[in-house]
Amino acid sequence: MDYMDSGLRYTPTSDKDWDTSVQFLPASDNKKFEKKKGKKVGAVIGVVIFAAVVALMTGLLVWHFHFRKDVRVKRMYSGSMRITNQVFDNDYENSSTQAFKMLAKQVTDQLKSIYSKSPQLSKYYVGSAVQAFSEGSVIAYYLSEFKVPAGQEASVDKAMSDVDKLADKERRTFTRPHNSLALEDVMSSALDTRLFMTSFKTHLKFTEHTRPDKTTYIQSPGFPNSPYPPQAFMEWQLRADPGYIIKLKFDTVNLEEDCKNDFVKIYDSLVAIENRVMEEMCGYYSPSEPLTFLSSGNVMLVTMATNEEKNFPGFRAEVTQIKRKTKAATCGGQLKGAKGTFSSPNFPNYYPPSTECQWTIEVPEGKGVKVTFKKFLLSEPGLEQSKDCPKDYVDFNGNKVCGEQPDGTVTDTSSTNTMTVTFNSDASYVDRGFTAEYEAVDVKDPCPQQFQCKNQKCISKALTCDGWNDCGDMSDELKCTCKSDSITCKNGLCKPMFWKCDGVDDCGDGTDEKGCGGCKSGEMMCKNNKCVSEKKRCDGRNDCGDGSDELDCGTSRVSCTDLTYKCKDNTCLSKVNPECDGTQDCEDGSDEENCDCGRSMFKTSRIVGGQNADEGEFPWQVSLHVKNSGHVCGASIISPKWLVTAAHCVQDDGRLRLSQPETWEAYLGLHAQSNVGKTVVKKNLKKIIPHPNYNAYTYDNDIALMELDSPVTYSDYIKPVCMPAPQHDFPSGHSVWITGWGATREGGYGATVLQKAQVRIINGTVCNKLMEGQITSRMLCAGVLAGGVDACQGDSGGPLSSPSGSRMFLAGVVSWGDGCARRNKPGVYTTVTKYRGWIQQHTGV
Ligand code: ARG
Repeated sequence: MDYMDSGLRYTPTSDKDWDTSVQFLPASDNKKFEKKKGKKVGAVIGVVIFAAVVALMTGLLVWHFHFRKDVRVKRMYSGSMRITNQVFDNDYENSSTQAFKMLAKQVTDQLKSIYSKSPQLSKYYVGSAVQAFSEGSVIAYYLSEFKVPAGQEASVDKAMSDVDKLADKERRTFTRPHNSLALEDVMSSALDTRLFMTSFKTHLKFTEHTRPDKTTYIQSPGFPNSPYPPQAFMEWQLRADPGYIIKLKFDTVNLEEDCKNDFVKIYDSLVAIENRVMEEMCGYYSPSEPLTFLSSGNVMLVTMATNEEKNFPGFRAEVTQIKRKTKAATCGGQLKGAKGTFSSPNFPNYYPPSTECQWTIEVPEGKGVKVTFKKFLLSEPGLEQSKDCPKDYVDFNGNKVCGEQPDGTVTDTSSTNTMTVTFNSDASYVDRGFTAEYEAVDVKDPCPQQFQCKNQKCISKALTCDGWNDCGDMSDELKCTCKSDSITCKNGLCKPMFWKCDGVDDCGDGTDEKGCGGCKSGEMMCKNNKCVSEKKRCDGRNDCGDGSDELDCGTSRVSCTDLTYKCKDNTCLSKVNPECDGTQDCEDGSDEENCDCGRSMFKTSRIVGGQNADEGEFPWQVSLHVKNSGHVCGASIISPKWLVTAAHCVQDDGRLRLSQPETWEAYLGLHAQSNVGKTVVKKNLKKIIPHPNYNAYTYDNDIALMELDSPVTYSDYIKPVCMPAPQHDFPSGHSVWITGWGATREGGYGATVLQKAQVRIINGTVCNKLMEGQITSRMLCAGVLAGGVDACQGDSGGPLSSPSGSRMFLAGVVSWGDGCARRNKPGVYTTVTKYRGWIQQHTGV
């Protein structure tokens, strides 16, 4: 790796010192002056001082108003241009060669002449420096510096964005020497201000030219042994041979969480041009995340900037070059047959910038083509709300789609047996793209015997007008005449009758909660269903009787009730779920004690390719194996020595002595059952404590504790979950996570890779109705009532993890269900808050 000085020398501006240098004299001087009045000598001195002060102030004011206009800010632009009448020479790769210097000089001269065509630019121009050259014929990458009067920045930005026009003008008006450069595609944009901060103490520049069949690595300085340097700006210029593109594959990205402080930015260029940014990264990515980038040409730039605080291990990436395929071979093509799949180039990794693909799909004569996008990730920062898709998009049947779309909701059917799908990515910001399926359908009846959603999805007719958004676009719930077992909401929706008066606004317009014999308008419903006047909320008196009118009142201390959080010093708080939320609420700080829990080391970004959890995403998840026979149940880590699981997992079963510690071994830090890698710690058990009141018929009190034979050392992959306070509130509708290696369908096989799914907490009364009265107050229901998402056999004992702030709390333990993932049959979990005393007594947690 070649290590050089930064190409352009930054001259830190002193302009910003201006503000602090104007100091008006302190008022106290005048007072001193007044006191001495009366004494003769004093008076003379006083007059002199007064005159001096007046003169000084006048001077300052004149300076202030006269020169202030001249306060200038440094503005940096990066740009590139194509020189068509030069041939690339290997010497151009090295900025210390004579060839480089000579061509660079010609480029800067010509830039100066281009800028002279604009009055704004010529006035404020300071200078330019060429950063690099690359093939094609020769592309020059440069930085230009301007000193712009404060307030004028926008006009200069504007002039710079039209620099191509200026270059044209310059070309036409000059009778130029015949050895001058022929320029095309001149472009530039303001440099990310974070990249030329004067606070940087270190500038490092690395260059790397990959060769065919050679793998090299780039990494942040110090990686992996020491944190990256503070206040540093680093850049890696990557090149491939002509006819090749660069493949950059990150195996580690571990930076500070806040992109404002430390970040890595990847460009499809050799200089940091904002309209060639491919991606910006910060935080910690799981090693299982697809993080491969492809360039469009044979160059790429990686930049990294850090601030003074909190330095992390950094990043490492593999750099290889791969032969550039012809346009036709990159993506797109002819697809024939009754069904098949296709995806964006490099999926599930990032597609390259400036790519265009076209697929022509042809299904048998007489049929129509139906295309469904299973994953759809084409987002551009800042354009999340944009409808007209000006940048990256997919086009089918004249229908442009972009952004991030929920799985399976982008779909279309053609009336003929062919369909053309195109994919376009522009020069900046790439994403993971899409994967799609196509199939031949009957044009007259694309959803035989089914209901066709507005988004073309086919669903069972029985699912329409039942209160569930089965289509994903609500089209199955519109224009409904509600059946007799449904509530007709004012907004036209139908909702299942058992949701009436359950305290949750299911209609979205309150219809299902009106006239419930409940509370009149101007009244609030207490947790115990009593009604009290709204005015009594937060008035410092317990009007409900259960204290629920005095919760979350912004006041700190209140008198204790069953619903209030109790600090160690026995005072109680009005705030709901104050524990481990990062704010000290108890005077003794006890709400923020023992809070190193419930956080995974990794940034959870969007998942592509199924519901596999990311490695280390749920580091408290444990796999309980029966020795020599494999995974049986899940469990959760709550301390270095203790696990929580389900009591029904540890009941003797014929010859299997499941109640005995010797029977079991616990796998901590496990991701795939097939791979007991370095991150995994296998532990034997010392003790098993099932709940004494566990009822094997009703599954009441289905909870057990397991003591490890020795404490485990926490790591990125092994960490405890947060234990909720007894009063912790997990409200209905709250989104929680279930995880496990259990069966992926009812009666099916267990999963190899840890699975995760998001479900919602379901109101206990509603759940008890759905589950025919089998729900006790110590059980918690969660699921997706439309069916399809649930825990299943083999998940038992595992966690129901509930996010609160930036941490996950153990809301429940997987316990039982009626089959798996059936419609209107949620999963049932042991409510952990009910056992806090018992857990504390045995484990100290
Ligand atoms: N009892 C099952 C087990 O032993 C877990 C059942 C969870 N079922 C459900 N549908 N949520 O693994």
